[in-house]
Amino acid sequence: MSNQFDSKQTETNDAARLTDDFDPLAPETFTSSHEIYKDMRQTCPVAHSNEWNGFWALLRYDDVVNALKTPKTYITSVQNVVPKVAFTGRRPPLHLDPPEHTPYRQALNPFFTEEKMRRIEPALRRITVELLEPYIAARGGDICADYTHKLPGYLFAEFFNLSTELSMAIREVTTIYDKALQEANDELVKETSLKLYEIARQIIADRKAQPLDPEDDVTTALLQKTWKGELLPEPMVLGTIRQMIVVGMIAPSVFIGTMLLHLAEHPELQTQLRNDPSLIPAALEEYLRLYTPYRGFARTAKEDVTIRGRTIKKDEPIALVYASANRDEAVFPRSDEFILNRPNIDQHVAFGLGPHRCAGEPLARLMLLITLEEFLKRTESFESTGDIKMTRWPEWGTLSVSFKVSPSQV
Ligand code: HEM
Repeated sequence: MSNQFDSKQTETNDAARLTDDFDPLAPETFTSSHEIYKDMRQTCPVAHSNEWNGFWALLRYDDVVNALKTPKTYITSVQNVVPKVAFTGRRPPLHLDPPEHTPYRQALNPFFTEEKMRRIEPALRRITVELLEPYIAARGGDICADYTHKLPGYLFAEFFNLSTELSMAIREVTTIYDKALQEANDELVKETSLKLYEIARQIIADRKAQPLDPEDDVTTALLQKTWKGELLPEPMVLGTIRQMIVVGMIAPSVFIGTMLLHLAEHPELQTQLRNDPSLIPAALEEYLRLYTPYRGFARTAKEDVTIRGRTIKKDEPIALVYASANRDEAVFPRSDEFILNRPNIDQHVAFGLGPHRCAGEPLARLMLLITLEEFLKRTESFESTGDIKMTRWPEWGTLSVSFKVSPSQV
């Protein structure tokens, strides 16, 4: 009797608790999702959506940061995005909680130091110019199709020290995968995802047959890394390489189009940055806040938590909406505006925070910085042709955006 009563009670509570506050799949324009988040930060900062079997979303900066700083309560090992997608096994470091997560970051972090960035910069600039020149010579086009979907594959070929054959393969497969993922072409995503695994497997086979200097080669370093006296399991090394390729590919590819779109609509800012390129890093940082490309990653509550009066039960997934946190007016006044040199810009969470903070942050910054520098240097002006297609949750940015470009005399 009392059991029946209890379960009825839970049902009623859940109906009240698990309201359908927003639809992450609603069609979007360039501004719509940010308008919705702005409203939700005021009226429903801890929101529940019934989509994808139900998930919570934290919209305010303080709540997002608190979750990121409390990884023992908000874990990533159950699912690191909403909706849960991984069908090919665990991929470190993103899918692991500390302390299991620790050795992977210990192996990866030395590949993103200032010194390493100085060494990779000339190759990165060469690739950028190689890809931008035909785009600019053609007086523009869709920057996503012609440049941003291609750039990460070219970068990975350098970063992973790949043979010519594997370089060609990674360039081709990442370009297709990136577009398929953003267009929600699930069949093609699955097919190309398996090809990415094949490439990662080949990289490992090559390094096992012929190791490189572990100080210069991330795959060799992962293969030689020991933790508690044992080598890291090879399937997990494979998962790490595959993870880096995907997580390092999507954000830059949606973000570059949005930055350029803002610049196209603000010719006075284009001129300011061309006249004083030392301002470009500050502009980039403000773009990362304003146009945060990973809308949010997920955590799962390890115990019941109550946030702003709403109870999230153990095992329920929570999206931490970085894109909303970065426009929280309580932290970033006039948050919808682009303000160069905001005093507290270093507080943005576009790269996350806590143990899972983006491992590739310095490389991402370098790639984006070089793109902006070379694009501005090689153009006299550019404008949008007005055709914009947006990606969908969990990314935010342009899937397709075209510009008309006037080349400069470089
Ligand atoms: C605009 C570019 C990029 C942005 C905005 C970005 C953002 C992020 C964010 C927000 C996370 C944290 C995930 C979480 O909170 O669960 C993350 C993790 C990660 N990122 Fe990036 N990322 C970018 C580019 C890159 C690049 C180029 C690489 C390297 C090739 C990279 C490698 C990683 C890795 C390995 C992780 C997992 C870290 C961990 O779980 O410990 N990212 N990234």
